Amino acid sequence: MLMLIAHGCCNHGCCNVGMDQKGGWPIVVKEVKHTRALHIQRWLKDRRWEQGGTAQMARTRGGVFLLLGLCFAPLAFVPSVPEEKAPPVPVARRSLWTGALLLASPANAQAPQKVLVAGATGQTGRRIVERLAKDGQTSVVGGVRDVSKAQSELSKSSIAIRGAMIDEVKAVDTKGVELKSLDVAKDSVDALAGSLTGVDALIIATGFVPGNPFAMNAEAHAVDNLGTKALVDAAKKSGVKKIVLVSSILTNGRGWGQENSPGFQVTNAFGNVLDEKLEAEKYLRASGIDYTIVRPGGLKASAPAGGLVVSKEDTLNSGEISRDLVADVSIAAIFDQRASNKVVEIIEDETKSQPSKDKWFA
Ligand SMILES: NC(=O)c1ccc[n+]([C@@H]2O[C@H](COP(=O)([O-])OP(=O)(O)OC[C@H]3O[C@@H](n4cnc5c(N)ncnc54)[C@H](OP(=O)(O)O)[C@@H]3O)[C@@H](O)[C@H]2O)c1
Repeated sequence: MLMLIAHGCCNHGCCNVGMDQKGGWPIVVKEVKHTRALHIQRWLKDRRWEQGGTAQMARTRGGVFLLLGLCFAPLAFVPSVPEEKAPPVPVARRSLWTGALLLASPANAQAPQKVLVAGATGQTGRRIVERLAKDGQTSVVGGVRDVSKAQSELSKSSIAIRGAMIDEVKAVDTKGVELKSLDVAKDSVDALAGSLTGVDALIIATGFVPGNPFAMNAEAHAVDNLGTKALVDAAKKSGVKKIVLVSSILTNGRGWGQENSPGFQVTNAFGNVLDEKLEAEKYLRASGIDYTIVRPGGLKASAPAGGLVVSKEDTLNSGEISRDLVADVSIAAIFDQRASNKVVEIIEDETKSQPSKDKWFA
């Protein structure tokens, strides 16, 4: 049974957060129009709740913070803060990247023949797999925890519940995609290396799935830190030449004065995930394998509503981006030599049109 409480940003009640009456996990039961980042941005400004029996209880700073964090962080991941504090670095405007165009690019001197996507059942991973498969110029391997489950899950649309978040997940066409078992927390490095045999490029789109609040630290450590490190070791062992890691903005927030920013605090409240991801990033950078670390802002399931903004390392502390664009950038990184050993931070800007792909890693 749900008790509805409207949070302060929605004066007209378009968006509600529900909490079961036994005080269980809060969930978003209705979300219309506003972006998640906007909700949190407004809430951070207002610091108030307008109605509902639990509002009083939640008024202490810690209580409100945790509650909203639990509601939004797994999905919104990083909330917006006033734009002037984090000016995006604009890039030139032009048409959208397409796989065919990319493969015709002169930057594509050493195009990989076989690509493995770790976390292929994930919302970003499945988009990457689908795009690569559609393009048809590389062999595509989807690394998944359970092959038969993944086979059926990928072929149908569903509603994903990740922690407190609910998302529509579209079916993907995986014709020609080989699925291989890959569990970064359970498999040995040798087993992972076995799955990577013959693979030229690895795209890591894994991420711990928030569930039990008491196990989040351990899960984030196992998947986003140790799991990624194990994949890097396995990649080295099996001769993978390129790794693209889907990480997050603010992983190095502590390193550039963002430790107390809302984005860092809310996101990192989930199992210290930013700290864990940073460890993995460092490990990858020290591995000697050519890498691109793609750090997106809060991920959206919807199609891009604005232009891609590509910014340098440790520059963005807010913003959102469609997973479609994250998939496009991750794929572009394996083909574009200019992405070599780079960290890019990406968000979407509704006031901008899509930049030309040849500017993405310039
Ligand atoms: N959510 C955000 O707003 C946000 C913002 C910035 C960055 N990120 C990061 O972006 C990446 C992609 O996010 P997403 O929301 O698209 O991911 P997602 O839908 O939550 O998918 C996560 C994927 O990781 C897989 N996975 C989890 N534990 C695993 C393990 N032990 N071994 C192998 N695979 C495992 C999951 O497999 P199953 O299907 O088997 O569970 C799933 O395929 C993640 O690293 C996330 O942390 C997220």
